Amino acid sequence: MDAELLPDSILIVDFGSQVTQLIARRVREAGVYSEIAPFSLAEEAFHRLKPKGIILSGSPASVPEEGSPRAPELLFEAGIPILGICYGQQVMSKQLGGEVRPGHEVGDGGEFGRAYLTVTKNCALFDGLWHPGESHQVWMSHGDKVTRLAPGFRPVAASPGAPYAVIADDERRIYAMQFHPEVVHTPDGARLLANFVRHVCGLAGDWTMAEFRKTKIEEIRAQVGDGKVICGLSGGVDSAVAAVLIHEAIGDQLTCVFVDHGLMRLGEAEQVVSLFKGHYNIPLVHVDAETLFMNGLAGVSDPEAKRKFIGKTFIDVFEDEAKKIGGADFLAQGTLYPDVIESVSFTGGPSVTIKSHHNVGGLPERMNMQLVEPLRELFKDEVRELGRELGLPDIFVGRHPFPGPGLAIRIPGEVTKERCDILRKADAVYLDEIRNAGLYDAIWQAFAVLLPVRTVGVMGDGRTYDCVCALRAVTSTDGMTADIYPFDAAFLSRVATRIVNEVQGINRVVYDFTSKPPGTIEWE
Ligand code: XMP
Repeated sequence: MDAELLPDSILIVDFGSQVTQLIARRVREAGVYSEIAPFSLAEEAFHRLKPKGIILSGSPASVPEEGSPRAPELLFEAGIPILGICYGQQVMSKQLGGEVRPGHEVGDGGEFGRAYLTVTKNCALFDGLWHPGESHQVWMSHGDKVTRLAPGFRPVAASPGAPYAVIADDERRIYAMQFHPEVVHTPDGARLLANFVRHVCGLAGDWTMAEFRKTKIEEIRAQVGDGKVICGLSGGVDSAVAAVLIHEAIGDQLTCVFVDHGLMRLGEAEQVVSLFKGHYNIPLVHVDAETLFMNGLAGVSDPEAKRKFIGKTFIDVFEDEAKKIGGADFLAQGTLYPDVIESVSFTGGPSVTIKSHHNVGGLPERMNMQLVEPLRELFKDEVRELGRELGLPDIFVGRHPFPGPGLAIRIPGEVTKERCDILRKADAVYLDEIRNAGLYDAIWQAFAVLLPVRTVGVMGDGRTYDCVCALRAVTSTDGMTADIYPFDAAFLSRVATRIVNEVQGINRVVYDFTSKPPGTIEWE
C-alpha cells in the first residue's frame, strides 16, 4: 500500500513471543495504527511504513546465545522513539553496548509470573501514572537479564529479580522494560503503552476502526487487482464481516458461496441469505446440500469421522460451485488472530499454521488460489466492532461462535435430520430464555446438546421414553480456556420446563458443569 495512504503508525518488531499480537492490540486500543513485522523483515517494513515509533517484542530466544535474533541496526539510527519489551529490552541493551547474562550465571533463576517493582525515578512512560516510591504489580517471564546498561540509559524502576526493570534514555527517546505490559496481569500495562505511543511518540491517538476499514480496503484492492475472489460463508460473524469488507473494496469481483449443510441453528441459514442478498446485494450462491450431508452422515457416530466427512464434503461442494462460476484467483477467509498460530523462524520469515478446522483445507492449492484474510490480526471483539462499523445488524454481529461442523458435533452418536430438528428447537428455546434474561452478551457460547440416551418420564397421565438434552454455557475470552456460566437454579429450571413442554422427543434436561480444560467447549 502507498505510504501516503498509511496512517501514522508504530512498527512492532516480532522476535517470536506468544503475545506479540497483544502489543498490537494495546496500541490499537490507544488509538494508533500498528503493524507487526518479523525481525527478519523489519527493515523492509520500516521503509514502507515510515513509522513514528518502534516496539521490540519478547521472544523465546536468549540474547547471550549465538545465532539469537537481532534488530536491524538502522532502527537504532532512525532517531525515532523505541520501546523494548522483555527480549526487546535485552537485545536493544546488547546492541547498544550493554551486557545481558543468563540468570543462572548471576545467581538466580529469573522471574516468572507476578512480580512487584518499585518506581525509582520519573520518566515519560510513567506520566500521570506511576510515581517514585510506589510499588506496582507487573508480569515477568525472563531467565536472562540486563546486567550492565548501555551508554545513555538510566534505571527508573527495579524489581527483586531485575534491577533494570525499566530503563530510559530520554535524549534518544529509547525506553525498555523487562516485564510484559501487553498482558492483562500487568494492570497498568495498557496505560504504559498508551503513554509510549502518545507522549513519547507524539501520536494523537485518533485512529479508529473506521480507519482500519479504510486501510484494509486499500490493501485488499492492492492485493486483488482485477482478480476474482470467492468467499465461503459459514453463517458466522467472521466470514460475514470479511465478505462485507471485501465487497466494499472490490464490489462484484467477489462472489460468496454459502453451503447450507442442514446443520445450522434455527433460522440461521435464512438469515444469512437475506442479509447478503437483501441487505447488501452481494452476489451469493446458496447451495442447499442438506440431503447430501445427511446421507453421508448416516451410520457415522465417531466424532472425527463426522468432522472429516463434513470438512471434505464442504470442500467438494464449494469446489464444484467455484468451478461453475468460472473459478477464482483468490479465496477469502475470515481467519482471526486466535486461529493463527504464528511463529517466527530465527533464520527466515514467519511460518504460519492455521488450525485445520478454520480454513477450507487444501482448496487454495487444489484450485491454485491465493488467500485473502483481512481479519488476520484481529481478536473476536474487534471483528465485532468492525462488523458494526460496516453496518452489520447487532443481532448478527453479537452472535455466539458456531463451529464449522455445526450441530453434527452437538449430537453424539448418529446424526439424522430428525435429531437435528429436535436439537434446533431445544437450542432455540434455550437461547430465547438467555436473551430474555439479558444474559446473552455475558456468555461466550451457549448451546444445547442432544444425547443418544433415552430416559423414562411421565407427562400428563402417560409414560414417556425420550432423549436427554444437555445445556452448555461458558464464559471465555478466546475459546482456548473456559469457565461454566453459573446460572441460577430458577433460570435452569425454567429452561428445562420449556424444553420438555415444547420440544417433542426430549423429556429430560441436564446442565454441563465442566470447565475447559479438562472439558472442551463442544462435546465432540
Ligand atoms: P473446543 O470444543 O475445542 O472449541 O473447546 C473451542 C472453540 O472452537 C469452536 N470450534 C470450532 N470452530 N470449526 C470451527 O469453526 C470447528 O471444527 C470447531 N470445533 C470447535 C467451538 O465452538 C469453540 O468456540
